[in-house]
Amino acid sequence: MVREGGGGMRLGKYEIGRTLGEGNFGKVKFARHVESGQAFAVKILDRKRILELKADDQIKREIETLKLLKHPNVVRLHEVSASKTKIYMVLEYVNGGELFGKIDLKGKLSEQEGRKLFQQLIDAVSYCHEKGVYHRDLKPENVLVDAKGNIKLSDFGLSALPQHLGNDKLLHTTCGSPNYIAPEVLANRGYDGSMSDIWSSGVILYVILTGNLPFDDRNLAVLYQKIFKGDSKIPKWLSPGAQDILKRILDPNPSTRINMAGMKSHDWFKQDYIPAVPYDDDEDINIADAALPIKEHDEADDHRAPSHINAFQLIGMSSYLDLSGFFEKEEASERKIRFTSSYSPKDLFEKIEGIVTEMGFQVQRGNGKLKVKLHLKGSASLNCPGSLSVAAELFEISPSLYVVELRKSYGDSSLYRQMCAKLSDNLGICKSQQLLMTQSLMTEACKFTSEMTHAAL
Ligand code: ADE
Repeated sequence: MVREGGGGMRLGKYEIGRTLGEGNFGKVKFARHVESGQAFAVKILDRKRILELKADDQIKREIETLKLLKHPNVVRLHEVSASKTKIYMVLEYVNGGELFGKIDLKGKLSEQEGRKLFQQLIDAVSYCHEKGVYHRDLKPENVLVDAKGNIKLSDFGLSALPQHLGNDKLLHTTCGSPNYIAPEVLANRGYDGSMSDIWSSGVILYVILTGNLPFDDRNLAVLYQKIFKGDSKIPKWLSPGAQDILKRILDPNPSTRINMAGMKSHDWFKQDYIPAVPYDDDEDINIADAALPIKEHDEADDHRAPSHINAFQLIGMSSYLDLSGFFEKEEASERKIRFTSSYSPKDLFEKIEGIVTEMGFQVQRGNGKLKVKLHLKGSASLNCPGSLSVAAELFEISPSLYVVELRKSYGDSSLYRQMCAKLSDNLGICKSQQLLMTQSLMTEACKFTSEMTHAAL
């Protein structure tokens, strides 16, 4: 029950104070228990929004699971209550801010300090996995630190909650950036929540140890491509153990990526490792007002809200992001150019083959790549005029959008530029198409949200 009093808002036994954060799922406010004076954080979810997005059952299930999480490195859920319009989750208050505030202050952490935090992060993540809860959206905002400098993970299990909905009913996200999202999640290929949380933890470890992101680019297409390729530069100044564990975590193939058992037996990870002991108390979570279930579930009406975001939804959500770079044709650099195309992979390879064969090149296919070679008679060295070797590779951004990357291995630069110009002119998205493409993506995004809204009517 919420009421305004002389000292501010009251929620049952709690006095509600300042806003601590505004996450994807609603506001988090400071709260003080009136009798004990103890500090808490209250997450406030909007029931109407949850109902609109048909996420009510999912949230009930998630909250049920969150009650089971009792670990020193996971924000504890103490109490849940609900009013007609809101759900209140009373959480452990964590008073050291976000982990990345700490890194911002120091630039980067020493391997010893970074490892201790990473061990705590992995302890928390693997504990939640053992309870059947996956984060799927691990990012710095979810990693808090307490007064003693220990990690507390928040929002675990809440990934099924719909992202923040703006007034215009288009999906928005407070984060928007896919820097921490595993490639298989971005590609929406069906994924193992445990392996994708390991990837995100690896991105966080990289930032802790280097002060930089492993995958970054202002052009979203290039950023996606770097993530899909696992194209990160692991600094040589890190210890061999740190380099190795980062390489094994940031493996874009989830089936060869290091798993939890591998991580915990890795020499770098094991150093000074003291596993955390989960709490063994029986504090009963108080479900006040037991107003959950939020709404009776109608079996016939089963349009579920999306349980995770894929690359396409992300584009739709990121309306505030500068998408112009996404469709930009990049300047031909000496060695590598990329352009976006809406042709299917099969068509793209066939058309590239056609164009370069016409230019007199020989083509080899293999491993999702095309190799193109031209070696004119009489050309004595690899770099002499008339000799050129180029590899073409494709990356999927969404089911109807691809990035073509052309990379020169060796040879004549002017011939290479001619080839790049010809291919991107014929296959790339021109300015008017770019506009149409943006519009159609946005229309799709509108359709997607209006479908969800329609389903809620
Ligand atoms: N911000 C988000 N969750 C929080 C928590 N549990 N404690 C402090 N600040 C937070």
